[in-house]
Amino acid sequence: MAHDGDALTWQDAGKVDEYVERVGRLAARAAGDAELVESLPAVVDRVLDLGCGDGRLLEVALRARPAATTAVGLDNSPPMIERARQRFQGDDRVRISHHDLRHDLPALGRFDVVVSGFAIHHLDHERKRALFREVAAVLRPGGVFANLEVVRCATPALQDEFYRRIERPGGDPEDVLAGVDEQLAWMRDAALVDVDCYWRWRGFALLVGRAADVRSGSSASV
Ligand SMILES: C[S@@+](CC[C@H](N)C(=O)[O-])C[C@H]1O[C@@H](n2cnc3c(N)ncnc32)[C@H](O)[C@@H]1O
Repeated sequence: MAHDGDALTWQDAGKVDEYVERVGRLAARAAGDAELVESLPAVVDRVLDLGCGDGRLLEVALRARPAATTAVGLDNSPPMIERARQRFQGDDRVRISHHDLRHDLPALGRFDVVVSGFAIHHLDHERKRALFREVAAVLRPGGVFANLEVVRCATPALQDEFYRRIERPGGDPEDVLAGVDEQLAWMRDAALVDVDCYWRWRGFALLVGRAADVRSGSSASV
């Protein structure tokens, strides 16, 4: 079934407005955010959000780790960037920058946490894989990549049911969905450790991995 917003893209305020209002009402979204907080390291100084949208996930992370000094959000949607900048107006810790994730990450230094919320599934699979390698490279030892994502369901019927339950019948034409297992494999290929799906509700999943802590040589501190 076609959706009213099918012709729109993330560059359009209409799609952004519809998304922010709808997803803000979803209990499963709030549950995913809460699980993401559980995956954060105890101490976080610098956090990066890929496809930050209106900044919701950055705010969740900053509320959970208020001692953080730096938060960077990247997105390529002007209306989303505008919303995120409004959200963090006056907060000197936060910088929201225009960046197209189809291209290499800009030089931003290293991070304790890289988060992403429902964004990376808009990239083609090869770019997803490359981005996971870039994420691993910008994480400090022991740093965490927490990717709250839209993933492919096991069958077309389950996919349809998921889209119905998130009030997006037929799905988003901009989705390029991958399954959980293949994405976990790509994260391991990127040299992340302790990689797993920490939480799942239908087509929402929290995929988490960690940069090995070279100081301890350990991969088992979660
Ligand atoms: C479903 S929204 C999620 C927004 C927010 N991260 C959240 O957790 O609610 C997808 C976001 O990914 C962004 N996005 C999609 N493709 C992108 C790209 N190639 N480069 C940067 N951002 C992109 C969109 O602009 C949008 O803000």
